[in-house]
Amino acid sequence: MCMNVQTIIISNDNNTIELLKLYIQSFGKFDFLTGTDDFAKTYEKIKEFQNCILFIDISEYQEQALNFVSKITAEFPHCSVVALSDKPDADLIVRTMRVGARDFVPIPVIKENFVRVLENIYGDFTGEKVKKSKCRIISVYSNKGGIGKTSVATNLALELAKITKENVALIDLNFQTGDVTTFLDLKPSFNISYMFQNLDKINGEFLLSTLEKYKDTSLYVLADPPYFKQSENVSLKKIEALFEILRKTFSYVIVDTTGGFDDRAMKALELSDLILLVTVVNLPALRNSQRCLELFDKLGFESDKIQILLNRYMENDEINAKDVEDVLSKNIYWKIPNNYFTMMSAINKGVPVSFVNPDSNVALSFKNLAITLSDSLYRQRK
Ligand SMILES: Nc1ncnc2c1ncn2[C@@H]1O[C@H](COP(=O)(O)OP(=O)(O)OP(=O)(O)O)[C@@H](O)[C@H]1O
Ligand SMILES: [Mg+2]
Repeated sequence: MCMNVQTIIISNDNNTIELLKLYIQSFGKFDFLTGTDDFAKTYEKIKEFQNCILFIDISEYQEQALNFVSKITAEFPHCSVVALSDKPDADLIVRTMRVGARDFVPIPVIKENFVRVLENIYGDFTGEKVKKSKCRIISVYSNKGGIGKTSVATNLALELAKITKENVALIDLNFQTGDVTTFLDLKPSFNISYMFQNLDKINGEFLLSTLEKYKDTSLYVLADPPYFKQSENVSLKKIEALFEILRKTFSYVIVDTTGGFDDRAMKALELSDLILLVTVVNLPALRNSQRCLELFDKLGFESDKIQILLNRYMENDEINAKDVEDVLSKNIYWKIPNNYFTMMSAINKGVPVSFVNPDSNVALSFKNLAITLSDSLYRQRK
């Protein structure tokens, strides 16, 4: 049932307006009032209403849009402002928060992210506590080896833990050649095969007290088994049960997957909320990514659930980002720059890239990706 809260969308892009309108209407708790690119008219409308929400796309006319947000939040405390942009970097997000926006949503908008924002706002209006930290499981996948899955999974997991301060699990489902422990220089006494053998006895408290935290962060690593034979009997049911425990215990679960199309990998992807499909700019990799997308489609995965992560990106590559989008018929969600020196130095030292050089282009890209994928900015501000 709607609760008499009006929503207004400002954007120069009609597609964005249409998409948000659709999500707002399917959420069903707020009224959709209008979509416009007119600041002055919006100001007049907001004056009229007691409770309203303004979604403002600040991708273009950024300064003007930020000034408008500042004016609205100062004059109309009854209006919640959510900013959106197709250039979601950490500095912009911080600036947006400083001028009073309560949330920031990156464009392209992932439905799940947007609905969470709506749920949070709804929780504030009704006083109902939003179900705390609905866990998000993010699998980093490619059917090709050596493409950067482990690099992405480890660095993303660490940044998520640093930014959100919430409990993040990094799990290595690469039973044969898992190398999360090498990337983070860990020798855990407890590994995933122990979990599989004792699923009936393990609960969240046990996990949080037994798993080792990575340095002084809230990242918990569930390593691959040291011996291959330890993982031979892992059934799909066991993977389901493991994911269920992890879902109850952590705010984010990052899964480093195996490269193939085997049942267990597909089960992990099916149970994930988001699949980051890692690819690089070369034809064999792109063809393989095409195959993955076709398979995911056949498996009935929602297209929103799969996002393309272009790794080792170079501005002056012969094949550019637009070509990649054309080949895959899908937008690129994120680009990680090519930086062999920093990546190798991190791997050789057994640390995440931000420990080697936090200002490097790769470290910043992982940090911004984590910011983009986390929904905790609002919670942090409270
Ligand atoms: N953005 C990047 N820039 C430069 N080098 C990179 C980048 N990402 C990954 N690499 C390099 O690519 C190599 C493979 O990376 P990684 O081990 O993460 O791939 P993978 O997909 O997990 O491989 P596997 O299939 O063996 O599990 C590593 O040497 C890493 O340093
Ligand atoms: Mg790997």
